[in-house]
Amino acid sequence: MYFSCAFCFLAAGCGTPTILSFAELSKEYKNQTVFPVGKTVKYTCQPGYVKHPQISPTIMCLENQTWSEAQEFCKRRRCDHPGEPENGRVIVTTDLFFGSTVNYTCNEGHRLVGTSQRQCVTSSSGPRVRWSGDVPVCQSKYVVAGAEQPDKKPNTARED
Ligand SMILES: *[C@@H]1O[C@H](CO)[C@@H](O)[C@H](O)[C@H]1NC(C)=O
Ligand SMILES: *[C@@H]1O[C@H](CO)[C@@H](O)[C@H](O)[C@H]1NC(C)=O
Ligand SMILES: *[C@@H]1O[C@H](CO)[C@@H](O)[C@H](O)[C@H]1NC(C)=O
Repeated sequence: MYFSCAFCFLAAGCGTPTILSFAELSKEYKNQTVFPVGKTVKYTCQPGYVKHPQISPTIMCLENQTWSEAQEFCKRRRCDHPGEPENGRVIVTTDLFFGSTVNYTCNEGHRLVGTSQRQCVTSSSGPRVRWSGDVPVCQSKYVVAGAEQPDKKPNTARED
């Protein structure tokens, strides 16, 4: 007990840096739990985010042994327009940035085939973001009813 108290005194400074949703602490600081006053630590943006060009991705250990407030130095990446189906439309719920969802609806007399909701997600092939799934198809209810009749297939077998 006495030992840990002495340790606390010697280690005056800041503890583990702030955990941020949009950025990750640089590897070099990850194992460190004590930081001296005046120390600056750096972050890198999480997937789906891009660094704000004018804001330094750092926080500093202040005189009062707290970390300076982290500014929003990473911005959400923006997905391209999600696309609209023929005979239907896309509903943008909030915006077109990383993490957002869009809904699809079909016009009267049409049925939605596929997924009605897509999300702006990270891409496995690079830093860019993309929409999950594909644009759904709005099928005419009447055409579908006829086309899917199995007994309407022409019978090619001949008796002779
Ligand atoms: C952090 O600690 C882990 C396990 O204790 C070690 O494997 C790793 O190399 C350390 N990383 C750095 C950057 O010191
Ligand atoms: C520490 O100092 C900073 C800058 O002066 C101030 O904004 C913050 O509120 C202080 N924190 C505490 C816990 O006193
Ligand atoms: C989008 O679809 C979801 C799931 O069906 C629903 O909960 C939500 O209210 C819809 N949002 C809009 C703006 O239509």
